[in-house]
Amino acid sequence: MAILVTGGAGYIGSQAVKELLQRKYEVIVFDNLSTGHRELVRGGSFIQGDLRSLEDVRTVFRHYQVEAVLHFAALMQVGESYADPQKYYLHNLTSSLNLLQAMLEAGVKYFIFSSSAAVYGQPAEIPILEDHPLLPLNPYGASKFMVERILPDYDRAYGLKYVSLRYFNAAGADPDGELGEWHEPETHLIPSLLLHLLGRNPGFQIFGNDFPTADGTAVRDYIHVADLAGAHVLALEMLQAGGSSQAINLGSSRGYSVLEVVQAAEKVTGRKISPKFGPRRPGDVPVLLASGKKAETLLGWQRRFSDLEFIIETAWKWHLNH
Ligand SMILES: NC(=O)c1ccc[n+]([C@@H]2O[C@H](COP(=O)([O-])OP(=O)(O)OC[C@H]3O[C@@H](n4cnc5c(N)ncnc54)[C@H](O)[C@@H]3O)[C@@H](O)[C@H]2O)c1
Repeated sequence: MAILVTGGAGYIGSQAVKELLQRKYEVIVFDNLSTGHRELVRGGSFIQGDLRSLEDVRTVFRHYQVEAVLHFAALMQVGESYADPQKYYLHNLTSSLNLLQAMLEAGVKYFIFSSSAAVYGQPAEIPILEDHPLLPLNPYGASKFMVERILPDYDRAYGLKYVSLRYFNAAGADPDGELGEWHEPETHLIPSLLLHLLGRNPGFQIFGNDFPTADGTAVRDYIHVADLAGAHVLALEMLQAGGSSQAINLGSSRGYSVLEVVQAAEKVTGRKISPKFGPRRPGDVPVLLASGKKAETLLGWQRRFSDLEFIIETAWKWHLNH
């Protein structure tokens, strides 16, 4: 029996594929390579296909005995989702419905879903717990929320067992140096900053220095990509052992402001940054931190790699060599 990983040619999916292979799972990657890269898939079988096509998805389940699905494939640029919401609902919602339909037809019952902090919207409390109201502020967050909303119905009616993992900011690169963040365009803070230091992102700017935080810049919770990948395997094993369907945050409750990240990057790289400030982006909240307690208690999740300097060190090595 194999594990199907959609979006396994992407940043987080490829790291999860590596983790699954290390744990001796048979892995099938399904990806349309729209934002992913074939070079990041370091093992298992690879199928190029598009989740928006139900036929493409059904073909996978006809050819392979799939036990579980890890569903990473999605688009995730908040700004783009405002400009072109249909694209987001097709890629993130229709695709997920197709996948779930093909899974149910094939009798596959385990589903691990890449959700996001974006499902919460404006936090009413910090750190955010899983029972916080879900009030997404943009089409990207709404597309993730809609999938999360569907899953309990599918559990009740069809016995689908799922875990929705709500990640905060994925960051860092494979500690072995093989894999890393490769988005074009890059919109995430740490890679944008490091690419700026390498002269490959001259327009780097910090969005907003007038937030109600200690230094005026936004505070976020950064989790190393290898810790995220590990949590997927733990969630899968929890379901395989008979655990119940859940939504679980992957956060650390520890936040860093953008300026703290800049200082850490200067320390790790030994290079100096003179950042420019731009206006806040629509929908950006001042502080976004998640409690990781539920993941720790229920899954036994530990953040082994999520120290900020280690995150930056691994990302820096990746960008230097890539
Ligand atoms: N990176 C983050 O900080 C972050 C934070 C919260 C949630 N997430 C979620 O994690 C998941 C993975 O994020 P990532 O950073 O690895 O993104 P990514 O863009 O690197 O990877 C996504 C992968 O999905 C593939 N894909 C997209 N649409 C597809 C389709 N219709 N059919 C088949 N393949 C398709 C892409 O080619 C790519 O390989 C996404 O669902 C994202 O919403 C990411």
